[in-house]
Amino acid sequence: MVTDMKKSTIKKKLNKKRLILTIILIILIFIIIYMLLNNSKNNNLKVKGYSNLEIKEIEKLTKSEIDTILKYDYNENLIYIIKSDNYNPNKLDMYLKYTLKYKEIEYLKIFELVNNKDFNQDKIDEYITLLKSYNDVNSIVKYVNDLKSKNIELNDFTISIINEKYFIDDHINRYLNYYNDHTDLKPSEIITRVNSNLDFTFYDDSNKADLSKGMYTLVNKFYYLDEDYVPDDLVDITGIYARDKAQLKKVAYDNFIKMADTAKEVGLTLKVTTGYRSYNFQSTLYNNYVKIDGVKNADTYSARPGYSEHQLGYSADITNKNNVSFDEFENTDEYKWLQENAYKYGFIQRYPKGKEYITGYVFESWHYRYVGKDIAKYIYENNITYEEYYEYFLR
Ligand code: DAL
Ligand code: ZN
Repeated sequence: MVTDMKKSTIKKKLNKKRLILTIILIILIFIIIYMLLNNSKNNNLKVKGYSNLEIKEIEKLTKSEIDTILKYDYNENLIYIIKSDNYNPNKLDMYLKYTLKYKEIEYLKIFELVNNKDFNQDKIDEYITLLKSYNDVNSIVKYVNDLKSKNIELNDFTISIINEKYFIDDHINRYLNYYNDHTDLKPSEIITRVNSNLDFTFYDDSNKADLSKGMYTLVNKFYYLDEDYVPDDLVDITGIYARDKAQLKKVAYDNFIKMADTAKEVGLTLKVTTGYRSYNFQSTLYNNYVKIDGVKNADTYSARPGYSEHQLGYSADITNKNNVSFDEFENTDEYKWLQENAYKYGFIQRYPKGKEYITGYVFESWHYRYVGKDIAKYIYENNITYEEYYEYFLR
């Protein structure tokens, strides 16, 4: 009996031991699996390029946050992001996605933008593109609200317009309207046209030229001079510098002389045929052309009275020692030389080839306008017209 009882207690004890051992074993297995898993996570982070120090910080995050981090390449700003006061774990995916996609933009700006509750989260790309023009997120919020108040939607097209080099805020409605009528045009082409006022009609929609701009005054088919406008400071051009007799504003004259003298050194002759023209003279010229050619044709090469840049005194028609005609000037060495050198003396070719639709005039190889060296250089290097330059930088 006694031995039987003993046997049973021993058996029970043994069973208990086994149970405890099994439990310990299971726990051990779990710990090992956990450690292995953890280790592989650590390894994955290491492989991505995270340092031990960074991994230590990352390990403080939840499993799902770490999984998100592992979805992306190494992110040098990650630790700053997760340690920031404004860090929102639900947005971790967006922080990582956009800071990696737009490495050229400071991560803090993207961080702030993703955090901003005013933004439509589906349009982060668009907002980020705006960050290139607007330096801080508050300005973008303001800007986007401003667009909203004008009923303008922030979409791919508006963004591409806004990011164009010569985009002018005030013209946004005009750009969009112009695009509605010309959907085949690229954003840059829309900007060029609207900035040159091509959404208006030549002559019909014209205004007085803004003479307060001094030597930068724009005169074209949208800006005219009064009948009695005569520039002061006109200087006679005589001798080897003129075909007959001409006049230019002093500053244009001085620079023309320098230009002609330099051209002379390489065996070329630059002579002015006409510089300043009075309103009345232009009127006679234009009316003669109309008689010969009709209004439509005359308008392509002659300005109507008041609309000629020659009345300003900063423009010169140029010929060479053989007094070649306007049409022949394009084939002279003088023309070739002017193409590469006129800007160094502050002159631009005012009615270039290929820009007829902007200037409203056929290509005039002989007509140069003085605008000063800086502007002439910019126009030369960027291949734009004075219309475009004026609207963007001077108006
Ligand atoms: N030929 C230029 C455009 C003028 O008449 O002023
Ligand atoms: Zn001319």
